[in-house]
Amino acid sequence: MAEAVARSACGKVILCGEHAVVYGRPAIALPLPSLRATATVHPAASALRILALDLGQVVDLETAPADEPLAHIVRLTLAHIGQSAPQATITVRSVIPIGANLGSGAAVSIAIARALAAFLGYELTADEASALAFEVEKLHHGTPSGVDNTVIAHECPVWFVRGAPPTLLDVSATHDLPLVVADTGIVTPTRVPVGDVRAAWKRDPARYEAIFDAIATQVHRARAALLARDWHELGAAMNANHALLQALNVSCPELDALCEAARAAGALGAKMSGGGRGGNMIALAASREDAQQLAKALLRAGAKRAFCA
Ligand code: MEV
Repeated sequence: MAEAVARSACGKVILCGEHAVVYGRPAIALPLPSLRATATVHPAASALRILALDLGQVVDLETAPADEPLAHIVRLTLAHIGQSAPQATITVRSVIPIGANLGSGAAVSIAIARALAAFLGYELTADEASALAFEVEKLHHGTPSGVDNTVIAHECPVWFVRGAPPTLLDVSATHDLPLVVADTGIVTPTRVPVGDVRAAWKRDPARYEAIFDAIATQVHRARAALLARDWHELGAAMNANHALLQALNVSCPELDALCEAARAAGALGAKMSGGGRGGNMIALAASREDAQQLAKALLRAGAKRAFCA
């Protein structure tokens, strides 16, 4: 009998450019290698079943509806490598919080795709894993840009423009980046703020296109600062990006309060990260030592969890 095979995928944060990236502007996303989803494929004597223990889900491939995300990634992977479903059980474990804008959905898809393909003797490339997960992101988000599946599949900082091959940024640029991630504890599916921005953009395209352009300016500024390792300048770009996300109405009082608390505690910059209306924010400290103190300050200010990226 074949042996069990396990593969994993990381979480992510958006450093700058969320929402505008759905409308063709650039974004910078960073992997969170310490937060992972893992899928293990065990040989079994029965039809393929997926046990997502942290999601409280058991999915039988044969009977799952077409829009069931875990079954969808399995079917897409099998079709991609031209194989039929093996008799197996796929166990998924993830420590990436769900609905927290840290890439849980894409990471689970990529871990499953990689593990299943490997079980069947095929190692997916990062581009293949990303493309498969993108199809599932459409179920989660409606109109995803593709940034989440891209950064998670490559597990490398990316400069991302929708529809273009991603530019993988030099990892030395983000080495020791004193970044803190803090959770409001509010769970909001990304499709909610993404859908609201779309509705607002349809009502007043000129206003929203102008905000997207202003965000793009901050993303370019952040890239230059990141490559120069100029944390003061990067922090300023993050603050300006947060103000523009407030103008898009995708922040919320809890995210704003954590950003204010971070700045009051000495952060060089702070912003919501990802879809917004809850989930996580990020804050930039001046040094790795300061980042530890900043994480503590964010916990004191009400964050449900805070950690150094
Ligand atoms: C989600 O991580 C980032 C958003 O821009 C949505 C997307 O790009 O698909 C809010």
